[in-house]
Amino acid sequence: MTEERQISKAVISRLPRYYRYLGELMEEGIERISSNELSARMKVTASQIRQDLNNFGGFGQQGYGYNVKYLYTEIARILGIDRQHNLIIIGAGNLGQAIANYTNFEKRGFMIKGMFDINPRLIGLVVRGVEIRSIDNLEQFIVDNEVQIAALTIPKSKAPEIADRLVRAGIKAIWNFAHTDLNVPDDVVVENVHLSESLMRLSYRVCSMQDERERKEREKTV
Ligand code: NAI
Repeated sequence: MTEERQISKAVISRLPRYYRYLGELMEEGIERISSNELSARMKVTASQIRQDLNNFGGFGQQGYGYNVKYLYTEIARILGIDRQHNLIIIGAGNLGQAIANYTNFEKRGFMIKGMFDINPRLIGLVVRGVEIRSIDNLEQFIVDNEVQIAALTIPKSKAPEIADRLVRAGIKAIWNFAHTDLNVPDDVVVENVHLSESLMRLSYRVCSMQDERERKEREKTV
C-alpha cells in the first residue's frame, strides 16, 4: 500500500463513488468507458475524473478509455475492500439492528461478527444470523474473532468509555455514529457518520435555492 500514501484525502473520499458507478457499469456489461462518458453519468467534469484516476498511474488509454473491470478492481484494492474486515456493532438498538440487517456490507467484505448491548432483553436475540451478546464479553470476542472495526451505535454519553475499551482490546477502526468526538491514539482511525449533518447540508442547499428563486421573483416585479 506504499504508493497509496501519496493520494490526497479528497481523492480517496471520491473513490467509493467511482467504485459504485463502475460496479453499475459492470452490471450493465460495459467493459470500457471514456472519461467523457463517465463524466456525463457521474455529473463531474471529465478533467476531474482524469485527474483523480491519474493518481494511480493512469488506468486510461488514449482512444480506448478506461477498462471498467480493471479500474473497479484497482479501486477496491486501494480502498482495501478486496479483503475481509471483521466488524462488530456496539449498541443493538434501532440503528445497530438496521446496520446488521443491511446485507450489502458483506458484499464489500465487511463481515458482521457480533453485536453487543447492555440490555438483558436484547442479549441472546439474533438479527439476520448475528447474535446480540453481553458487553461484558467484548474483549475476549474481539481477540477470538480478529475484529478490526467496531461500529458505535450507543448513546453519546457511553461512547468515550466504550471507545477506550475497544482500543485497549485492539480495535483499529471505529465507525462512530454517536454524536460525540472520540479521543483515540494515532494508530486508531475514526470515521464519524452523522446523518443529521448531511440533512443540515441539504437544508442549506434547499433554502439557498428557495432564497434565490424568491430574489428573482422580486426582481421581476420591481
Ligand atoms: P437506541 O436507544 O434504539 O439504541 C441504543 C442501544 O445502545 C440500546 O439498545 C442500549 O441498550 C445500548 N447501549 C446503551 N449503553 C450501552 C453500552 N454501554 N454498551 C452497549 N450497549 C449500550 O438508539 P438508536 O436510535 O439506535 O441510536 C443509537 C445512537 O446512534 C444514539 O447515540 C443516536 O444519537 C445515534 N444516532 C446517530 C445517527 C447518525 O447519523 N450518526 C443516526 C441515528 C442515531
